[in-house]
Amino acid sequence: MKKKVLSIMMATAMIATLMMGCGNKETPASAPAADTPAAETPAAEPEADTEAPAADAQEPAADSGSLADKKVGVCIYQFSDNFMTLFRTELENYLIAQGFSKDNIKIVDGANDQATQSGQIDNFIAEGVDVLIINPVNSSSAETITDKVVAANIPLVYINREPGEDEEKRWADNDWNVTYVGCDARQSGTFQGEMIVDLGLEKVDMNGNGKVDYIMVEGDPENVDAQYRTEFSVKALTDAGLEVECLSDQVGNWQQDQAQAIVANALAQYGNDVEVVFCNNDAMALGALQAIEAAGRTVGTDIYLVGVDALSEALENVLAGTMTGTVFNDHFSQSHSAADAAINYLTGAGNEHYIGCDYVKVTQDKAQEVLDMVK
Ligand code: BGC
Repeated sequence: MKKKVLSIMMATAMIATLMMGCGNKETPASAPAADTPAAETPAAEPEADTEAPAADAQEPAADSGSLADKKVGVCIYQFSDNFMTLFRTELENYLIAQGFSKDNIKIVDGANDQATQSGQIDNFIAEGVDVLIINPVNSSSAETITDKVVAANIPLVYINREPGEDEEKRWADNDWNVTYVGCDARQSGTFQGEMIVDLGLEKVDMNGNGKVDYIMVEGDPENVDAQYRTEFSVKALTDAGLEVECLSDQVGNWQQDQAQAIVANALAQYGNDVEVVFCNNDAMALGALQAIEAAGRTVGTDIYLVGVDALSEALENVLAGTMTGTVFNDHFSQSHSAADAAINYLTGAGNEHYIGCDYVKVTQDKAQEVLDMVK
């Protein structure tokens, strides 16, 4: 997948610097919405040597009139998603901090149904919003969504669920005001695997078969975050030279209750052979933890458990040792970058077609620092 990772300057006095476990690289982690100015994002560079016939480039989205008058439509795939709740709350706060009026920011719940969301997008177009920020229910619907939003000459910022490579290429080829803001899920999967590698095989291989025996609980399989986290968490183990044994790999749809049932069944079936539980997100890790405790197992002693997102509750468990680790999915950085991208379209500054951010590995020693930031 093409990744043009930009350095996103989060010009805020509250920036905290976290050390990433991988290669001791430093990465800035952003802070809650404050009086932070919009990040400067360079104007989009259309790709050269494209084969598709170039359609007319979209007109500049807007003059640089006051943001207070601009209408923003935000489509969230599902309000009940824990992570997207953090994301949309921060997005709204940050948009207001940048000068948008609360009354002009409309955030709607797609209720995990693409038809519902498509109707909401039609309504936003009919209302004449100035910019759209969309967390698609199905990434595969992005082409249809893009077509109608571009036809209405409304700039579009996709968030959280990355459309496919071909779709992103169309934006560049046609010089459309369309971008994606998100993190590279491969990194989060790699961090999950590394947290297990760092424990050492001696500690993890409790049944002594020379392998890491694990169960995997996946998010929505259509979602690239779920696909990459599943693949790269295990790849980190094999890259470190460890042998692995997948005992069970099931879809928990990002949901705590589904994960609880999956892990309870897997523990009943495989018992003490289950050494590691990988969950594609923290909501599911919290469900896994309920099942682990109900089965009389103890994280850190006879089983290991990792998630992604750094939800407060998960961080508290990491601190207490009842989760091995999580990975901070920086909703501050992502929501701020999405708002900044919207502003750049409204002012005519434009954006690259991919705006990335970094994940942060969170083990027990880092959990308080991240908890202080997210609380
Ligand atoms: C998060 C999940 C969330 C999903 C929604 C992922 O990046 O880690 O917690 O459910 O996005 O699309």
